[in-house]
Formats: sequence, structure tokens, C-alpha cells
Amino acid sequence: KPLVFSGVQPTGNLHLGNYLGAIRKFVALQESHNCIYCVVDLHALTAQLVHDDLAGQTRAITAAFLASGIDPKAHIVFNQSRVPGHAELAWIFNCVARIGWMNRMTQFKDKAGKDRENASLGLLAYPSLMAADILLYRATHVPVGDDQKQHLELTRDIAQKFNIDFSQRIAEAGLGVDMLVGEERVNGYFPLTEPLIEGPAPRVMSLRDGTKKMSKSDVSDLSRINLTDDADTIAKKIRKAKTDPQPLPGDVDGLEGRPEAENLVGIYAALSDTTREAVISEFGGQQFSAFKPALAELAISVMSPINAEMRRLMDDPAHIDAVLEDGGERAGAIADRTMKEVKEIIGLLG
Ligand code: TYM
Repeated sequence: KPLVFSGVQPTGNLHLGNYLGAIRKFVALQESHNCIYCVVDLHALTAQLVHDDLAGQTRAITAAFLASGIDPKAHIVFNQSRVPGHAELAWIFNCVARIGWMNRMTQFKDKAGKDRENASLGLLAYPSLMAADILLYRATHVPVGDDQKQHLELTRDIAQKFNIDFSQRIAEAGLGVDMLVGEERVNGYFPLTEPLIEGPAPRVMSLRDGTKKMSKSDVSDLSRINLTDDADTIAKKIRKAKTDPQPLPGDVDGLEGRPEAENLVGIYAALSDTTREAVISEFGGQQFSAFKPALAELAISVMSPINAEMRRLMDDPAHIDAVLEDGGERAGAIADRTMKEVKEIIGLLG
């Protein structure tokens, strides 16, 4: 089975964007893939160093994974800082990647803002740690939302540069695997990872502004549905969601130029595991006053059980810690093997 890796930062409340763009896909991939899902606590230090309750946030994301249906026995769930290989390989990738590559990352530019000189060095090197997360397990598939696409392209660039720079050593050590790059068959140590972004809601937008991404950092709580929202709150947020005055169009092409309508239809499709086309064939021509209550009912039916299970799990932090410890041991065993081989390829006597 192909190997999947993905990560979620323990910063702030998880929202519907995280759930539909990432966690719901994590759950679906468990049948067909071996999966490693990581709470990336080291990444949480890049934008803000001191956190009120990083340990609690790390447990909350773990609880969300489990409550959504991730099986930590059949797969691996752990937090990043438990496995030292992440930081170790990230250092090596800092020496593979070029500063220019990092400077081009739109997320760095957004998060650093105008005062770039004052951003942490970790924020600039963030994608290098992300590449290390994935390649430490030589994962081939990475489910993420659309906003991570550029970081995954950089992960491929890092893998490719490593493979080329060390091609002779990789061959000498007999550690290469054959892979296809475009049309060309090449031999390398790190795979060129495929992002898994498709689906009806790769980019869930704010409920207050269909041109802005739904995000943890939006000042308006009405802009997002949190995984911790109760049924009344979910219903209220959908009722208040911004829309235009037209009824839903008769076909998906009619969603173009109507970002709010497109967003709500995409959310409906993702929550019910269908396509936008199917949603439009059911609701096309109807007013939002009819569509919104149906969407609220659907959202509540999916989110409420997750919410309840998350609360139950959070009452037993020792259980969550045991899951992370077990996952960390199994992840660590794979990571140790990779680090040993990487050191052999580079010539580090570690
Ligand atoms: P993070 O913690 O910001 O978000 C977790 C996941 O949620 C997705 N996401 C969205 N998807 C759709 N619509 C939205 N509005 C939305 N907002 C967030 C993100 O795309 C992500 O999949 N850099 C990553 C964490 C990471 C990682 C990794 C991911 C670290 N190492 C290795 C994959 C592989 C991040 O900050 O995600």
C-alpha cells in the first residue's frame, strides 16, 4: 500500500476548512493506504514562540483526529517533537534548499508581513521542516488543502536536488529506487511526493467573505465553523453566512463569479461525499432560504458526533498521551532507519 503522511498545526481551533480540506480525507485514505498523521508541534513555534497551552492544543488536535475516525492502531498518530529525526532531517534540508526558494513562498510573505527582517528564521525555514516531515517516512502521497500546494512543490524540489546532488553516493550505497520524473526514469533516494488536493472543497472560504480563506486567525468567529461549535452555533453561522440575492444556478458553470454560493455548494458536496454537480442538480433554482437550512442540518449531522467524541476524549488526557507515545515509537522506528541511510549517503559518521 502507498504511504500517506500529513500534518496539522496545534495552533488555535480547528475549523471546517481543516476538516474538509484535510482531516476528512485522512479518514478516507485509511482503507487504501498506510497512513501517518502528525500533530506538528515544532511548526507551531515558527509564527509564535510562546503558547499558553501547547500541550493541550496538541492533545486537542489528536482528539479531533481520533473523533473523526482515524484508527491509531492500524495507522500512526503522533506529535512531531517526539521523533528527533524531523528536526535532524530539516537541518540537512536547510542545507539542500536555497534561500531564494524560501523567499518565494507566499505563506512566508503573508505570515511575515511587512517586517520580514523581524520574522523568525524558523518561519522562513518552515517548508524545509515540512519536507522533512514527509520525506523522513519517504511518503508518496500527502493529503492537504489547496493552501499547502506551494509547500509540496518545494518538497519535490528538495527531494530532487538531494537525489541529484547525491546520485552517485545513493547508487554506491545501493539505496536508490527507480521512479518516473515526467517521462524520464530516474533513480533516487527520496520519492517525489504527490499532493492529494482534489475534492469538492480543497479551499473552504470564509462564511463572511467568499474571496477569503476560512482561517483560524480571522477576527470574526462568524467567518468559520469550529470543530468545537455546538449545533445552535453551527445553525446560526450558516444562517448568517453571506450570500448574493440570486437563487442557486441551474448548473455548476453558473457558480462562477459567485464565490459565496460556490463555497456553500462545495461545503455541502464535501460533507455529503458527492460532487458540486450533484448538489446543483438537487438544489439548482432554489433560494438560499431553502438551501441554508438543508446545509445546516447536514453540517450538524456530520459535526455534532465528532464534537461530542472530541469532548469525551479530552476528558482522558492520559489516553491521548498513550496514543501519541505508541505512535511516536512506531514512527521513530521508521525515522531512525531513514536517518541512518541519509547519514550514510552524505558521509556523516553519526
Ligand atoms: P495547517 O495546520 O494550517 O492546516 C491543516 C490542514 O488544513 C488545511 N486547511 C484548509 N483546507 C481547505 N480550506 C481551508 N480554508 C483550509 N485551511 C486549512 C491545510 O491545507 C492543511 O492540510 N504546513 C501545514 C502543516 C504541515 C504539513 C506537514 C502538512 C506540516 N508538515 C507535512 C502536510 C505534510 C499547515 O500549516 O497546515
